[in-house]
Amino acid sequence: MKGVVLAGGLGTRLRPLTSITNKHLLPVYDQPMIFYPLQKLAEAGIRDVMLVTGGNSAGDFLRLLGDGSGFGFRTLNYAYQVREGGIAEAIGLTRTFIGGDQFVVILGDNILEDPLEDKVRAFKEQGEGARILLKEVDNPSDYGVAELDGNRVVSIEEKPKRPRSSYAVIGVYMYDGFVFDVIDGLEPSARGELEVTDINNTYLRRGLLRADILQGWWADSGCSIDGLLQAGIRARQLRSEGR
Ligand code: G1P
Repeated sequence: MKGVVLAGGLGTRLRPLTSITNKHLLPVYDQPMIFYPLQKLAEAGIRDVMLVTGGNSAGDFLRLLGDGSGFGFRTLNYAYQVREGGIAEAIGLTRTFIGGDQFVVILGDNILEDPLEDKVRAFKEQGEGARILLKEVDNPSDYGVAELDGNRVVSIEEKPKRPRSSYAVIGVYMYDGFVFDVIDGLEPSARGELEVTDINNTYLRRGLLRADILQGWWADSGCSIDGLLQAGIRARQLRSEGR
């Protein structure tokens, strides 16, 4: 199982903090934001990781993270995304690195309390297809939203005005090698990006999508200045509890 962390984008929702740097380099309590998803992958036993970034601050990630040995990785690889082409396009850049293996993608601004280890194990046992994580939230319209029938996902909509549930699809996705064929077939959305929600809906239509519901705290720390502040406060609380 390999790991992918996505750390591109312009971070417009965090301006002016992101006017001269990448949002994933901003502090969340006592660490750069990007440390949190990297630590999640490391804790889940993932040893080979690729970080996808872009923009003017790309070199700063190499200075900060180096060869990844500080996280216990065997290899830390880097890919450069030239334009703001969306999450699905960024995943597409990892094709050669992944080489047909199963892998876990985590968005660089997503911070989770729950460990990923059991979810990764469940995906290994699943063997093929895709697996996503859901979290009940107060503001589903800000996210991809899963419509559920019991525990089964029926549809996923990206940032719907009228969400069909309060379950956000968080930024942790597990795929098999088929995802690259799916990405090849995607068309840009209205905002001109290749959408991860379209990948997940393709797996769903083929009956190959499973979902787990997160119990612990989750933050999309890049969603707003207040979200960033709340993530820092929560990270400090968890740290003081020894977690
Ligand atoms: C992205 C995805 C969205 C997901 C969210 C989780 O949105 O498009 O489906 O719910 O990440 O953080 P973004 O925050 O990039 O707008």
